[in-house]
Amino acid sequence: MNAPVRAEPRRLENVQTDRGSIPVYATGTVPQPWDTYSAADHATWKQLFARQRALLPDRACAAFLRAQDAMRMTPDAIPRFEDLNEALAGTTGFEVVGVEGLLPELDFFDHLANRRFPVTWWIRRPDQVDYIEEPDLFHDLFGHVPLLMDPMFADYLQAFGRGGVKAHALGPDALMCLARLYWYTVEFGLVREDDGLRIYGSGIVSSSGESVHALESAAPNRIGFDLERIMRTRYRIDTYQKTYFVIDGFEQLMRATDPDFTPIYARLAKQPAFPAGTVLDSDHVYQRGNREGWAPDGDV
Ligand SMILES: [Fe+2]
Repeated sequence: MNAPVRAEPRRLENVQTDRGSIPVYATGTVPQPWDTYSAADHATWKQLFARQRALLPDRACAAFLRAQDAMRMTPDAIPRFEDLNEALAGTTGFEVVGVEGLLPELDFFDHLANRRFPVTWWIRRPDQVDYIEEPDLFHDLFGHVPLLMDPMFADYLQAFGRGGVKAHALGPDALMCLARLYWYTVEFGLVREDDGLRIYGSGIVSSSGESVHALESAAPNRIGFDLERIMRTRYRIDTYQKTYFVIDGFEQLMRATDPDFTPIYARLAKQPAFPAGTVLDSDHVYQRGNREGWAPDGDV
């Protein structure tokens, strides 16, 4: 019998953008080619999973850890999407769908609006264990999927997707506001719990370095969540964040999406954006960062 052939993602081309050269993938959904994962792929999952789960107790928010256990994600092997979907069907009805990689905004929003979360089916190579510039299976599955089990967070993602579809029709200013909101909540958000600040952002929980940095470093700012403030705040994609925004709970996120964003976008378009590291007089400051190690520019 032939050894399974490792499938390759259908990468269409690289395009040059103001953020550098980024890959463009086929946008359709694909079944997870689970049988083609190699022993090295499963070993990469195991190594990353074990490292993160050793770090995350008392750092990740309670809902994240609880959900990951409830879904029965383990280090033993790359999870099967169908097993995760069984767990999700019994809770929020969100569904994990396989994709080739990062999606165009509108495709991504449409998935969320319909309670589907796109997950990159391929996992990084062993030499990319510490850093990969685009989302892979580990980031998407380990980082994003557990909180799909949380009813309030799931509703927030769906509301965000619906808002995204609408913003896409309104134009680039609206999309920029939403991209910042996603970045500072879903990807890099912190939440205040009884015992202190905890991580819920996927970009943090899937990174060993940033899991420690986001909570324990004196360098970054930690500032209370404020929707319009976040929509005006630029961010960095190539280093740890200069500022993390702290919510009081997922209900606060959900409530923030209640108003119609259209007049907010129009108002914010006339105002300058804030650099990623700025602290304003009006901020609720948990920590003012000492700026140690901050790169001088690179905000987007
Ligand atoms: Fe992500």
